[in-house]
Amino acid sequence: MGHNTITSTTKLCAIIGNPIEHSLSPLIHNAAFEHLKLNYVFLAFEVEHLREAVSGIRALNLKGVSVTIPHKVEVMDYLDDIEEVARRIGAVNTILNQEGRLLGYNTDWSGAIKALEGKVELKNKKTILLGAGGAARAIAFGLKEKGADLTILNRTVKKAEVLASELNCQWGGLELVESFKPDILINTTSLGMYPRVDDLPVKKEFLKDMLVFDIVYNPLKTHLIRKAEQNGCATIPGVEMFINQAALQFELWTGKKAPLGLMKKVVVEKLS
Ligand code: ATR
Repeated sequence: MGHNTITSTTKLCAIIGNPIEHSLSPLIHNAAFEHLKLNYVFLAFEVEHLREAVSGIRALNLKGVSVTIPHKVEVMDYLDDIEEVARRIGAVNTILNQEGRLLGYNTDWSGAIKALEGKVELKNKKTILLGAGGAARAIAFGLKEKGADLTILNRTVKKAEVLASELNCQWGGLELVESFKPDILINTTSLGMYPRVDDLPVKKEFLKDMLVFDIVYNPLKTHLIRKAEQNGCATIPGVEMFINQAALQFELWTGKKAPLGLMKKVVVEKLS
């Protein structure tokens, strides 16, 4: 991999999480920095002590930080300001250091919504969201924001209920999915994720006349996406959301338009 020359004015961006060794963020951000010849470098840090790590961001003047599992919620306690939607979601996945002030953003929701809006107008669309974890939370807030007619279904029904009550939408258990006729089906559960690639969150016969979005991106084409395609459904693979959320981070940190095509290419090559 070719690098920009690192100098005494190179800006540092990073991802913090635990574990972190499988993160693709360094690959895509460094490729984008190089492509636009920006004097930035991106590293991954395995972080156990979050408060100290955020002090380090300030002390060493890192320009931008991506925050991942398990730190997206706690990190909010250590920042100077948090954008409204990230505050409502209750999770921050992006920090921007603006002249010493650490600002928190959430690009997960906007990355997902951007991927969906590339295919469909969301207003009033009957949308089933499978899962009620961190990713589901971010996407659910985005869907409500855009006026979708949302139902949240989760294995642990109580978690679906808690999230649904914040958003004033319907909820239920995963097994209810077949009683709906959605325009859009979104999988945010880990079903189908490597290494259990044969798992399917719904019966394949259910996948008819709907847009299917699976946020799982390893494998690139999940069992769900394959079956949906075979049944003639429009589909959005998880890599779209992954790239979009990274591109939005890149734009916050650099002020430059992200090279989306290139970012997608490096991820697809890596996962193929
Ligand atoms: P993420 O940040 O990716 O959303 P998470 O917060 O751990 O990860 O959420 C994982 C989601 O996948 C949850 O909705 C979880 O359901 P529970 O709330 O019942 O745990 C769902 N999930 C994980 N494994 C599952 C399985 N085997 N069957 C059904 N749902 C599953």
